[in-house]
Amino acid sequence: MARQSDFQAFSLADLYSKEPIVGDKPAAQEFVIEEGEIELENVTFSYGSGNKILNNVSFRVLPGKTVALVGVSGCGKSTIINLILRFFDPTSGRIRIDGRDITGVKLQSLKKQVGIVPQVNPFMNFSNFLDVSSFQCFNPV
Ligand SMILES: Nc1ncnc2c1ncn2[C@@H]1O[C@H](COP(=O)(O)OP(=O)(O)OP(=O)(O)O)[C@@H](O)[C@H]1O
Ligand SMILES: [Mg+2]
Repeated sequence: MARQSDFQAFSLADLYSKEPIVGDKPAAQEFVIEEGEIELENVTFSYGSGNKILNNVSFRVLPGKTVALVGVSGCGKSTIINLILRFFDPTSGRIRIDGRDITGVKLQSLKKQVGIVPQVNPFMNFSNFLDVSSFQCFNPV
């Protein structure tokens, strides 16, 4: 019988094997993040034809700064991260990194430069403090 940890690994592999919802535009270019400034300008977003999750969200994260998105469960914090990684594109508005609209860059060049620490960690046993702390050190958000 598969252990719980094996089951979670299979699920993650399944996720990565799916066709992405957004793809490269024909003129998409390689992108190298130099400074790391992130700007959302009037970003509005719905999943499919559902309700607006984000409505005209604008903010800027300056290079080297740490920013926490705080809000009630379901208000759209992870959705913002999904948009910055281009798992989805905004319904309207712009997301720029270093001044560059990320819808015009190659997905792979964007994703390989952004580290995320998932809310639910499928790899580590959270009772093992050393594993967790080293994982976070090498994957800054
Ligand atoms: N793939 C999806 N398809 C449809 N709706 C989704 C999807 N992902 C999230 N949602 C919905 O979008 C809303 C925002 O979800 P999101 O995960 O961004 O919230 P959150 O602020 O990160 O919440 P939490 O604090 O619980 O992590 C919720 O109503 C959620 O049910
Ligand atoms: Mg979340």
